[in-house]
Amino acid sequence: WTALGPSPLAYRGYAMPAQASAADLGRIVADFAAATRRAAEAGFDVVEIHAGHGYLLHQFLSPRANRRTDRYGGGFDNRVRLLLEVVDAVRGAWPAGRPLLVRVSATDWVDGGWTPEETVDLARLLHEHGVDLLDVSTGGLDPDQRIPVGPGYQVPFARQVRDKAVLPVGAVGLITDPDQAEAVLGEGSADVVLLGREALRDPSWPLRAAARLEPATLRDRYPRQYLRAV
Ligand SMILES: Cc1cc2nc3c(=O)[nH]c(=O)nc-3n(C[C@H](O)[C@H](O)[C@H](O)COP(=O)(O)O)c2cc1C
Repeated sequence: WTALGPSPLAYRGYAMPAQASAADLGRIVADFAAATRRAAEAGFDVVEIHAGHGYLLHQFLSPRANRRTDRYGGGFDNRVRLLLEVVDAVRGAWPAGRPLLVRVSATDWVDGGWTPEETVDLARLLHEHGVDLLDVSTGGLDPDQRIPVGPGYQVPFARQVRDKAVLPVGAVGLITDPDQAEAVLGEGSADVVLLGREALRDPSWPLRAAARLEPATLRDRYPRQYLRAV
């Protein structure tokens, strides 16, 4: 099994991918649509297309990974083409009333990579193509990335998209505390906060946040069996 990529460039230490042909890309777009139909049939409420973290669609966006000279590589319009084709196919296969999210890496954290400014331009296009929310993450494409990890380290990227594009955005990355999450929303940096590791550590985090931020509502939120312990 040989992995496909935009160009035959290996992530350091990993196998060399083959350059995807136009026929491969057509099949991949159709596969996204088929997966969406299965998700709809299975009853999922939301789908999110992953176009970040070094996955295939991100590789097409980034000039560090995409060295193609056909209509899927080169300038911005060509590098975003595959993602927009996937978005159109998924939107067409997904019930109109159900949200469609896209996750991107707003920066590759390396010179010559995908940029926050391109992310803003992409966000405007995604909105036109029926995407309901942009989930703004970063990195994952290039082993030379240097990420200044700290509390809320990706929030400024969500803010930049929200300030300059019209679609709702989600912020993610070391958002761990209810007051911190509320501040991200209150200062207008994002419309939604997303939790990864903190939700793994504490699956009841939303209840903990409600206890901190909206104590009066707790009795409506907890399972009745737990109320004696609230
Ligand atoms: C063990 C682990 C697995 C992850 N797997 C995925 C994944 O499959 N897809 C994805 O988009 N992000 C994945 N992430 C990234 C998280 O979704 C999230 O963006 C990141 O951890 C930053 O948010 P946090 O600080 O709230 O965890 C993973 C993170 C961890 C720690």
